[in-house]
Amino acid sequence: MKKEEKYTTIHYQNYLELDKLLSIQNNRSAALGENAHDETLFIIMHQVYELWFKQIMTELDSVCALFREERVDEDNMNTVLLRLKRISTIIDLMIEQIKVMETMTPLDFLDFRDYLFPASGFQSMQFRMIESTLGLREGDRMTYHGKSYKIAFTEPQQARLEDIENNGSLFELVERWLERTPFLQLEGFDFLSEYRQSVHHMIERERKNIQESEYLTDRMKEIRLKMLGDSNSYFKHVLSREEHERLIAEGQNRLSYDATIAALLINLYRDKPILNIPFNLLTELTNIDELLTTWRYRHAQMVMRMIGNKIGTGGSSGHDYLAATAEKHKIFKDLHNISSLLISRSELPQLPEDVAKKLGFYFSTGRA
Ligand code: HEM
Repeated sequence: MKKEEKYTTIHYQNYLELDKLLSIQNNRSAALGENAHDETLFIIMHQVYELWFKQIMTELDSVCALFREERVDEDNMNTVLLRLKRISTIIDLMIEQIKVMETMTPLDFLDFRDYLFPASGFQSMQFRMIESTLGLREGDRMTYHGKSYKIAFTEPQQARLEDIENNGSLFELVERWLERTPFLQLEGFDFLSEYRQSVHHMIERERKNIQESEYLTDRMKEIRLKMLGDSNSYFKHVLSREEHERLIAEGQNRLSYDATIAALLINLYRDKPILNIPFNLLTELTNIDELLTTWRYRHAQMVMRMIGNKIGTGGSSGHDYLAATAEKHKIFKDLHNISSLLISRSELPQLPEDVAKKLGFYFSTGRA
């Protein structure tokens, strides 16, 4: 059917189904007791968040679908980047919106809090879908009185969450994409051995600076040399595949060895045109993780202000539980940790001319 044939006019009110949308802010306090003025705000705030969650899921699902394609070309990568940026911008706004919730005073909240019981953000299916699609695994979550977070949901919802967990999260898709990057197999350039040498030079230079310093006492030199020894062994650990795999088995690392090395290379040579988009993409993932953590802290702070140390309507310890999720529920920690492996531009191994030339263009198009 042609576009003109399908075309009909529509009124704003109908297009947005406003009659429906504006008829679902129903205060339970009004239905069950005396209307509490601030309950409308409380309902609207949650509904607005759920709408933003829906938009985030729309973006995440499309990004995952693009990553699932056999060949993730640069056109797709640009789309992925734009959509991830949209997600960060939404979470930024979600953090700001907490201020609106905080215009309600704790005493006004108490006017209707009892009517909510046992409803809680704990039962937000979309929030759990976002976490799991990004890559938060069941085993990495806080437990709920020793039980799975899933007990807050119906059986079909639990099955849906399991499906998301088993079907490749964004973390796993990005990991696979990093492992497939062609950047590591550049003829005539063994990135890892060049990088190892640079790290060695950097550490030796720092050792010399400490030993020759006129301003450090012998005791201070001793302490600093010990710290330098620790960072030397840190680099050695990270650069060894066996050691890296041991840390993964112990749960200290998550990102595979090959993916970590690819992410390191992308970060170090991010000024090369071919690596711009991959670098921005990794940065955007760390942004999302950081913003989500900030939202968790802000939400926990707001909860402290509203209910102090009372338990939540969902039955958790309230503030303490929420503050703990901010630390524990980080997803892209391994990408943040790449910063500990960076060396300064002046120490960076020089790329052979032909390799530098190759990194100036996009691999998949073969453009010259
Ligand atoms: C007066 C305002 C609020 C209070 C006092 C409050 C309180 C709490 C508490 C105590 C929990 C822990 C679970 C429990 O035991 O219930 C929780 C979880 C949660 N809340 Fe809120 N909340 C408020 C507003 C909001 C808003 C506006 C949202 C937006 C959707 C929200 C989303 C969530 C989510 C997603 C969780 C689950 C967090 C997790 O388990 O990681 N909350 N809330």
